Amino acid sequence: MIADALEILAPRIAAAGAAVEAPDGPVPAVHGGRVRLQQVLINLVSNSIDAMEGQDGPRHVRIGAAVRDGRVRLTVRDSGPGLTDPDRIFDPFFTTKPVGAGLGLGLSISYGIVQSFGGDIRAENCDGGGAMFTIDLPAARGDAAAA
Ligand SMILES: Nc1ncnc2c1ncn2[C@@H]1O[C@H](COP(=O)(O)OP(=O)(O)OP(=O)(O)O)[C@@H](O)[C@H]1O
Ligand SMILES: [Mg+2]
Repeated sequence: MIADALEILAPRIAAAGAAVEAPDGPVPAVHGGRVRLQQVLINLVSNSIDAMEGQDGPRHVRIGAAVRDGRVRLTVRDSGPGLTDPDRIFDPFFTTKPVGAGLGLGLSISYGIVQSFGGDIRAENCDGGGAMFTIDLPAARGDAAAA
């Protein structure tokens, strides 16, 4: 799922001069719809790329995956300016992008998708700068397979 999302995004990532790092090693399988989860990841990485557009210095996104207590935690962290309004970003139609560039729907739709899988999504600013999104999902039963 992660590899497919990054393949879809490859032209945007290249055009933005960004580097996106996928988790190394196998990623635990999660309980959820593959295509819908892919939409969530694509929106998160797209948002990171938008946020870092034109900035000096590294434009870097790191996707992480870890499993613990039957839950899988996916993280997307960037080296952008961080979130100006973390409490409102999941609201429908909240956007800081110019008219025509964003509708402010990506994160509100993502929130609903993750909830429908019995999961949770949250956002924070990192101490070292940049934004980090965390998606917590139930691990698939039987686990071990690559997501
Ligand atoms: N990685 C990020 N860094 C900084 N700000 C972010 C980041 N991700 C989201 N945001 C903020 O959250 C807002 C809402 O994001 P969301 O994906 O819901 O909408 P959008 O990207 O503006 O439009 P759409 O997704 O509908 O094209 C963004 O406009 C931006 O202000
Ligand atoms: Mg978006």
